Amino acid sequence: MAAENTGRPRANATSRLLHNICGLLTFYPQLVSCLVTDLLINIDHVATLRNARLEAFPDPAAAAVLCEAAGADGIVFHLREDRRHIRDRDVARLKDLVQGKLDFELAVIPDVVDICCQTQPHLATLVPERREEVTTETGLDVIKHQAVLRDTVARLLDSGIDEVALFVDPKPEQIAATCETGANAIELHTGDFANARTAEAQDHEAHRLADAARSAANLGLTVHAGHGLDYRNYRNFAGIVPNVSEVSIGFAIVARAIFVGLYEAVREMARLVKGPYAPR
Ligand code: PXP
Repeated sequence: MAAENTGRPRANATSRLLHNICGLLTFYPQLVSCLVTDLLINIDHVATLRNARLEAFPDPAAAAVLCEAAGADGIVFHLREDRRHIRDRDVARLKDLVQGKLDFELAVIPDVVDICCQTQPHLATLVPERREEVTTETGLDVIKHQAVLRDTVARLLDSGIDEVALFVDPKPEQIAATCETGANAIELHTGDFANARTAEAQDHEAHRLADAARSAANLGLTVHAGHGLDYRNYRNFAGIVPNVSEVSIGFAIVARAIFVGLYEAVREMARLVKGPYAPR
């Protein structure tokens, strides 16, 4: 039977192919951003160095600008209650200068929660904080502190901050409890993975993180990860743990910067984290 003549030229295979390629190119940026893990750099350690000599340099905000120029997708800072590294003035400057994603880490401390709400970062990450610790040691006990965390998450979201994450250990019960607080993201604590002393122990911890990442994603949480990730352990982490949309890495990069400079240290990490999508 002869084909009906509609008056329109019939799309041949080549034009259909071109049409499909154009469609794919339109969605390419979204596709890449779904598949590629973002690299956010924690610049607290730059402030630690500055404060050690009671100096005005090195400036963490200037470091943030350089990190972004070198390919970081965003900047992380932690305003601690004791202000041991980042200070209130740094927060205002970071808010002004950072072009990419700004992640404000904080504990449930009323005046710091107020500052976070006023600052309006893209992401607020709630972490536990103890004065005696050298760095954040464990994830939050979300089960024990459910009520206060739920209130704080609500305050941060109601203030207009789009994304609120809780920093938790890769334990199923903590992940379920995170979801109950109303947080829409989770940062998995990778400290046990980073501290593992043997290849077997590291693989074991990576698989715990993988299970945690899968169940967090199944619950609808955006999955972030961080703590102790470095140039040596990152490949193993990324090879085993799925669904991680961004990582927060600080110490390894600032330490490497002493030898190769901050720009090169960031580029090296960006190549590891973003592979062919790292800036050239
Ligand atoms: N994520 C959180 C919640 C942290 O507290 C820290 C440490 O400041 C990091 C990520 C980054 O860890 P590191 O400096 O070991 O890369």
